[in-house]
Amino acid sequence: MACGMIGLLGVLPVTMLESCMTLPMLRTTSKNNNIVISKTKLAAEKKIFVLRNDDLQYDVLLVKNLDNTYYAMYMQCTHNDNPVQANDKGLFCTAHGSTFDLEGKVTNGPATQSLKKYLVSEDADSLTIHIN
Ligand code: FES
Repeated sequence: MACGMIGLLGVLPVTMLESCMTLPMLRTTSKNNNIVISKTKLAAEKKIFVLRNDDLQYDVLLVKNLDNTYYAMYMQCTHNDNPVQANDKGLFCTAHGSTFDLEGKVTNGPATQSLKKYLVSEDADSLTIHIN
């Protein structure tokens, strides 16, 4: 169900409404096939971030694990290369209805392959997403 429809009905549980909340979107730049992002740009209370980069056709989803490590995935549907949308529950493609969990695994087809994941390394001040 589209978030706009949920708002019209006004009777759905709060958890469904929360899943419609907009994720923080950060503009990034890449260098040497890496996206480097300062940790100060990542709000401590947030766990999921959409990274937009002019060098990439699709956004990158950055997810913080419970142990404060990170992983990232490319927001390109593996079915037919459309962009996927994300919320705090998972990712979905509006083209033909594929859905993915927050680890990028298919939860509903027609897609059959997981989203492309990227290695994320970090130092004291920043994260590096290896996009090559
Ligand atoms: S392109 Fe995403 S489900 Fe078909």
